[in-house]
Amino acid sequence: MSTNKESWGSRVGLILAMAGNAVGLGNFLRFPVQAVQNGGGAFIIPYLVCFLVMGIPLLWIEWSMGRFGGRFGHHSTPFIVDTMGKNRLWKYIGVFGIWTNIAVAAYYCYIESWTLSYTFHSIIGTFSGLDQEGVANFFGQYVSLGTSTLGIPYEPIVFYILCLLLNTWILSQGLASGVERVAKVGMPMLILFGLFLAFRGVTLTAGENGAINDSSVGLNFLWTPNFDQLWSPTVWLAAAGQIFFTLSVGMGTVHCYASYVRPKDDIALNAMSAGWMNEFVEVVLGAAILIPISIGYLGVERVSEMVQSGGLGLAFQTLPYLFYQWGDLLGALSGMMWFGLLFFAGITSSLAMGTPWIGFMQDEFNWGRKSAAWSFGLFVFLLGMPTVLFFKYGVFDEYDYWAGTVSLVVFALLETILFSWVFGINRGWREIISGADIQVPAFYKFIIKFVTPLLLLWVFLGSLFTPKGGDWGAAIAGNWVLDNSSIINKLKNVDLEQKLAAATDPEAIQ
Ligand code: PHE
Ligand code: NA
Repeated sequence: MSTNKESWGSRVGLILAMAGNAVGLGNFLRFPVQAVQNGGGAFIIPYLVCFLVMGIPLLWIEWSMGRFGGRFGHHSTPFIVDTMGKNRLWKYIGVFGIWTNIAVAAYYCYIESWTLSYTFHSIIGTFSGLDQEGVANFFGQYVSLGTSTLGIPYEPIVFYILCLLLNTWILSQGLASGVERVAKVGMPMLILFGLFLAFRGVTLTAGENGAINDSSVGLNFLWTPNFDQLWSPTVWLAAAGQIFFTLSVGMGTVHCYASYVRPKDDIALNAMSAGWMNEFVEVVLGAAILIPISIGYLGVERVSEMVQSGGLGLAFQTLPYLFYQWGDLLGALSGMMWFGLLFFAGITSSLAMGTPWIGFMQDEFNWGRKSAAWSFGLFVFLLGMPTVLFFKYGVFDEYDYWAGTVSLVVFALLETILFSWVFGINRGWREIISGADIQVPAFYKFIIKFVTPLLLLWVFLGSLFTPKGGDWGAAIAGNWVLDNSSIINKLKNVDLEQKLAAATDPEAIQ
């Protein structure tokens, strides 16, 4: 039994910490790239539907599971799910909610460390005077661990370690005086910077400061509904995956944060406040910066091309240069704001990834907060080094696929079954509405029992058996060849075999 009596300092603090957990690099880097890769306007409808029938239910499920487990002194998913289902197996399924976090933190913190480094470089003026190619080369050099302008050897590793030390130190300060405090400062700053940059993004005019397009070109590209692809399961899978990632559901962090809520406190409204705040930051701010600005200067074609060949770098390869088109002062300032914003978004999320492990070690092994925090930092470092050292070999993408995508779907599916069918929807529903400061719409009881698990099952099966090129039409017509992105082929390492074959045959690399 746990002696861990920590709790949140205030309701505002809790909501900001939960919003900080959700709002992350996913909102500003992953969402725009997913939207572009999946046909812009075709993406947004499945995305919103998934938010309503999967995202919102999962938020309520996870918040109420967390508060429920907290009543028994549990703050990590293995023991939270153990209090809800009799079968001993659940406890082991709950382990997902710890290890996924450590694995995601391993690569997530690496990007977070880029944002730290880029904030620093923006402040010292590294990007001023560089042309587009110079900025893109800087990024290439950086990720291949070449010597940077600072002359610090292995600069990315230095920043990675710095970033982990910072995370670990904040975590070791505890919930209210560490995590909550950072969220209370970071979230308002992030929104302020975001509003400023989004305003710049949507008021770009063709012919001004080198912009070749109006910002309307980029915005139309994202928002004009394109119904051709509306029924493509691949687009739906991508939309579902983004909803998971962005809301931090299927991970164990929401359970953990909610387990520190007092038993009589509201969760229904709190969950909605944090969830909708994430959607505002994603759909309004996240959509108004990277894509409109990049397309304004570089055009739709060039940006689509850059996004297809590994999208994550886009924000680092283009924006530091494009900002300088607004003049030296505004350029430097915007760079600081953009990377500063990303850093705040990132750190409030990576802190969340640390808390399940810490709660677990405190509750079940009576570890102190400090040793639990430092052991998390050490784990992340060991697990993260391969993504840093072998970034160009796609190790990073493997982590994102297994830990950041597949695991989330599997855990979300299992916990929904536990909640609605094992624990029982009637008890579950009572948990959701107990102490609620809003009237939870009654039809959500039906959605949580049937729609959410079925949709999750479909998402899971769809990713297991994705047909080649995502061409479901051909597959249904009988020509079923598995795509390399399907879980089955991934398990068989088809992708890796081809990569290795290509690596040993230099002719094969274009
Ligand atoms: N939701 C975060 C984002 O959008 C990522 C995250 C996933 C954070 C899982 C915590 C847990 O970037
Ligand atoms: Na998010």
